[in-house]
This record gives sequence, structure tokens and C-alpha cells, in this order.
Amino acid sequence: MIALKKRLLKPVLAVLAMNTILFSCQTPVKDQPGSKNPGDSVATKKDWWKEAVVYQVYPRSFKDANGDGIGDLKGIISKLDYIKSLGVDVVWLNPIYSSPNDDNGYDISDYRNIMKEFGTMEDFDSLITGMHKRNIKLMMDLVVNHSSDEHEWFKQSRSSRNSPYRNYYHWWNAERGKPPYRYSLFDINHDAWKYDSQTNAYYLHYFSRKQPDLNWENPQVRKEVFDIMKFWADKGIDGFRLDAFQFVAKDTTFPEFPKGFEKNFVKYYAMGPHLHDYLQEMNREILSRYDVMSVAEGAGNSFKDAHDLVDSNRKELNMAYAFDGVDIAKSNGYSLLHFKEVFSRWDSAFQNNGWLSIFLANHDQARLVSRFGNDGPAYRELSSKMLTTFLMTMRGTPYYYNGDELGMMNPGFTKIEEYRDMPTLNEYRHLKNTGGNLKKFLKEIRFSCRDNGRTPFQWDSSTNAGFSTGTPWIGVNPDYKTVNAEAQEKDSNSCLNYFRKTVRLRKDNPAFIYGRYTLLDKDNPNVYAYTREKGPRKFLVLLNFTGKPATVNTGFDLSKAVMILGNYAKPSDGIMLHPYEALVYQIK
Ligand code: GLC
Ligand code: CA
Repeated sequence: MIALKKRLLKPVLAVLAMNTILFSCQTPVKDQPGSKNPGDSVATKKDWWKEAVVYQVYPRSFKDANGDGIGDLKGIISKLDYIKSLGVDVVWLNPIYSSPNDDNGYDISDYRNIMKEFGTMEDFDSLITGMHKRNIKLMMDLVVNHSSDEHEWFKQSRSSRNSPYRNYYHWWNAERGKPPYRYSLFDINHDAWKYDSQTNAYYLHYFSRKQPDLNWENPQVRKEVFDIMKFWADKGIDGFRLDAFQFVAKDTTFPEFPKGFEKNFVKYYAMGPHLHDYLQEMNREILSRYDVMSVAEGAGNSFKDAHDLVDSNRKELNMAYAFDGVDIAKSNGYSLLHFKEVFSRWDSAFQNNGWLSIFLANHDQARLVSRFGNDGPAYRELSSKMLTTFLMTMRGTPYYYNGDELGMMNPGFTKIEEYRDMPTLNEYRHLKNTGGNLKKFLKEIRFSCRDNGRTPFQWDSSTNAGFSTGTPWIGVNPDYKTVNAEAQEKDSNSCLNYFRKTVRLRKDNPAFIYGRYTLLDKDNPNVYAYTREKGPRKFLVLLNFTGKPATVNTGFDLSKAVMILGNYAKPSDGIMLHPYEALVYQIK
């Protein structure tokens, strides 16, 4: 067995810091194209995927149709009218392929089949038909940095050094000694090399041991992936979300990394040689041949990286999503000045060139309102609506996570037994084995664990929030009696109906999609104020990010402006804002 190496890495809490380490754009380029002369050449080339609002459905927790406690495809089908009613255009579905579920479907054992718990291929066909009938597009998760160790390729690969599948993965024969250390995000010992006695060799897994990394240098692997993409594109899907894609390209000589490499994780672990060749090949083979949208998780290490992924003349992807914004929120809060600075920087980098996406929550994050707003009873709804206003009025295709439209919040788990997330449980065991501070860890994950965003969707006030008649695979947030879709349908001021209104607003006004963005009252630490304008249409957005009244100075004479959206029944005057107030004006 592998002798456990003592590593220099500070005890990085893999789970907590994962996105920060992995996906942050850490070395921004200062001079951004177009920043000198904004209004002139604002990115206005029309594309459906720029105008779309993407709604992310986490299938395991959305709706369980057969009472086994696990959400499924039939469950989603039964809720298509609900999804349609939101006004969204695209559903991004987390992986639904066959999987032993070490990492909730991100460990795929058969890319052309449906996970048993989720249903059958017939269910999938009905799902896509039902969506297309309602004019909703379907984007699928493509998880090809790694497969499951239970995939046939890996079974063959590990069986013999002479297997034709050997080079589908990264192996290091043990007679060469131990391979240079690589950090694993999900492994209990943080070691990304796992010794396999069958062939006396180590295999590489950036994520868990059950997620061996595929070798993209092997043209056969790429061909397999493109065939899989073709299979799903021929079925009529409308997009691919490329999971952890920046990691596919690695330096496969596996050199020793210098001391302190972890501070610039992406540089050493990701965006390696040939990444762009692979993407251009994928574009030639698949993406350009279908009317599909494409988005990569992670945007590299700099704006240059991000541009290279998405500039249309390079023929790679439509967009990528960066984690700079979402990573700002820490357990001790965040600074709005920092938040404004990051989003303004990203806006200016993409106003002329390429396209970006925008999000503040997904299945890997805690709940939107708990992280960026205030989930106490007084402000949960108001701050949730305020954040929705932000996401729907900024540049970039919005990715909005299921349940956030209800203002669902973190469940407040207190015991490790309540958690299901594999890396969290591994980290807990790791700390236990090494005498780490478990109390501190439990406190941290209560704020940041991925499970916070994975509790069952709250449909109504019946047992298990109407999610399942069985025992849900993960606990339901006890607040479901009051926070649920059914109750919010009936209330015209609910978060749900406010979400519908903001989606409508975005779709009716191209200024929010293609228009120029201008930050106002830049140094105001409490209020985020900006305009979006296109042609004669100009909108002013005012967002109080605090639980106290706050003033804002925009220089506009609001007596000539028309308020078109707000989250208070009695809005303020637009100068002294109410706590967590959101206001959108049309400027005449
Ligand atoms: C991505 C997914 C995450 C998964 C990981 C490994 O970050 O969003 O859920 O665990 O990749 O596939
Ligand atoms: Ca089920």
C-alpha cells in the first residue's frame, strides 16, 4: 500500500477551499480590451445562448416520482410546467448517466445510459420531448476529466499493462518509485496517486479514488468523448457543460512542483498544453455541427485564459464560468467593495469580446441567500430578491440554481451524520485521523458544505416538502412548512413571483443582455448602483446589500425616472434605500 506522505500543503480543507483553489482567476490582466471607449463597440452580436436564462436542476433533489427518496427523471417531467412558468429558456441538468454515485453522478460508469435511480432512456426521451414542446432547451453535464473506476475502460485499463485501454488513464509504474506528489481534492489523504496492486502501478485521480483522470493525450480517448457527445447531440440535446474541463490538459511528464505551488493551483494543475487544441478539435468534430451551447466550468488563470476559451474567432466554446465572484463570500462575510470590483472587472473584460456567464450559487455551493444575503426571518425574502435582481440585470448568461427562486436557505445541519457529500465526509475522517479540529470543521461546513445546496426542493407543506413519499436521501430543510413553492404561488409578492418578474424584465429589455454597464457611486460600501444602456434605453439598478438603510448618490434626477421593479411594497425615494432594497428605474 502507499506509504502516506506527509505533505507541505497546509491542511487545506479540500471541500471548503475547492473552488477557490481550482477555478479562481488569480492573476488578472490589468488592461482590458475596450475599457477605454466603452459605449462604442459593446458586444451586440445576437445569439440565443446569450439571451437565455439557464435554470439548473439538481435531479437527485428536485422531485421523486417513485417514492424511493431520490429525485428522478419522471419527477422532473412532472414539474415541467413549473419550470416553464419561471420563464427560463434552458435547463442545465447535473449528470444523469449510470454511476455508482461516489460523487452524485460525477463518476460515470456508462456515458450512454441513465442512472438506475433516475430512470430509463425512455424517461429521458420523454423528458426532452416534454421540454422541447414547451420551448425549453436542455443542457447536459459532460464529465470527461475523469470517469468512474467502475467504467469498462478503467476496468480494462487496470487489468493489465498491455491492455489497449491502458493509456486511457494516467499510470505510473511502481518500479519507477513513487510519482511526484499531486494533490487530490477529494481523497481522504489528499494524495492524487492511488497504488493499484493488480499491475503494481499508481493511477492519477485529481478528485476521488473512484474518479480516475482520463488521458486526453490519447487520441482514442478524445474520439470516445466526441462519439459520446455525438450520441447525445443526435438525441437532440441543446448544450454541454464541460465539467472540470481545464484539468484535462496536464503535463504528463509529471514533474515535481516547486514549493508553494498550491498558491497558484490552476497554473500547475490546469490549462496545460494542448487544452485549446482539444477544444478546437471538439468544436470541429461536434460543437460546430449542432446548434448547441457550450460552457466550461472554470475560466483559467487570467482574463487571457478566459478570452482564449470563448473568443468566437478561436472556435472553442461559447462561454466559461469563473469562480471569482462566487468565492468572495466567506464564513465571516464579504466586502461589497470587493464584490463590485470583481464584477465590474469581469464586465469590462467581456464587453467587446467573448461572452461570460454569471452565477452566485450552484450544486457545489451553499445557498444563495445564506451566503450572499441574510437568511434571518426579517430579511430572507428581501435579500433573496435583491440578489435575484443583481443576477438578472448584469452582463453574462445567468445560471440560476433550483430552489433559489424560493429563497431556500442552508438547512443548518449540526451533526456529521446529516451530511452526504463524499469530500466532506472524507475530510472529516481525515481530520479525525490526524487529530484535527472537528468542532471547527463542523462549524465551517454548516456555512459552506455543498450539501447546503442539495437538500430537497420545497414544493409544498406536506410531508418531506412534497419532494418524496419515501425517506429523502438527504434531510429536508425544516423551514419547508413556510418556505415552499405552493405557498409562494399564491402570494404575488413572493420570491418566486419576483423571480418570474425579473426574468421577464431581462427578456423584454435587451439592454440588460447586450447593454453597456457603468458602475456608479463606486466607493459606496453598502449600495451597488449601476446603469445598463443600449441605444435610447437606459436603466438604473440600485441594490442595498446591507440590513440597514443606506444612501446612494447616483447623480440622477429620479423625479424623471420610472421605477419598473422593486422588492418593497412601499419603495424608498431611491436616495436613502431600505434594508436590502432593490430598485430598477428606467431613465428618461
Ligand atoms: C465539478 C462538479 C462537482 C464535482 C467535480 C468532480 O466541480 O461541479 O460537483 O464533484 O466537478 O466531477
Ligand atoms: Ca425516485
